Amino acid sequence: MASGNVEENTPSASLWRMVGPVTELSKKQCRLLYSSLGYASDVCLFFIKGEFFAMDARCAHSGGPLCQGDIEEADGVLQVFCPWHDYDFNLRTGKSQTGLQQEVYEVKVEGGNVYVKHASPLSLQPFSSPSKN
Ligand code: FES
Repeated sequence: MASGNVEENTPSASLWRMVGPVTELSKKQCRLLYSSLGYASDVCLFFIKGEFFAMDARCAHSGGPLCQGDIEEADGVLQVFCPWHDYDFNLRTGKSQTGLQQEVYEVKVEGGNVYVKHASPLSLQPFSSPSKN
């Protein structure tokens, strides 16, 4: 018998994760999305100029909190500047002029909700403890 959706059984598979309603998530420039995998996998969800962007919340340089970074647009390119050492990261590609690469994730809006394609469930609230089924 042919196998079904192999992604479903792969722990690291990226799946669409519903994170909340557009009406709520569009009220702030950036939200921290907690990952069920823990601190290192948390995600920043940016809402800039009517568009959502998602990238790893901890800076690829030394782990600075990118959700607290300044957003600037230069030559049509939206960038976040890490609050710790001011490295730039392109919101769309995750690339920095320093050569570092920040992981970015696809975002879609469907049925009034925002979805981020990620390897783990994401939440606006911290995951208190890993669930065991
Ligand atoms: S930790 Fe982000 S630039 Fe250094």
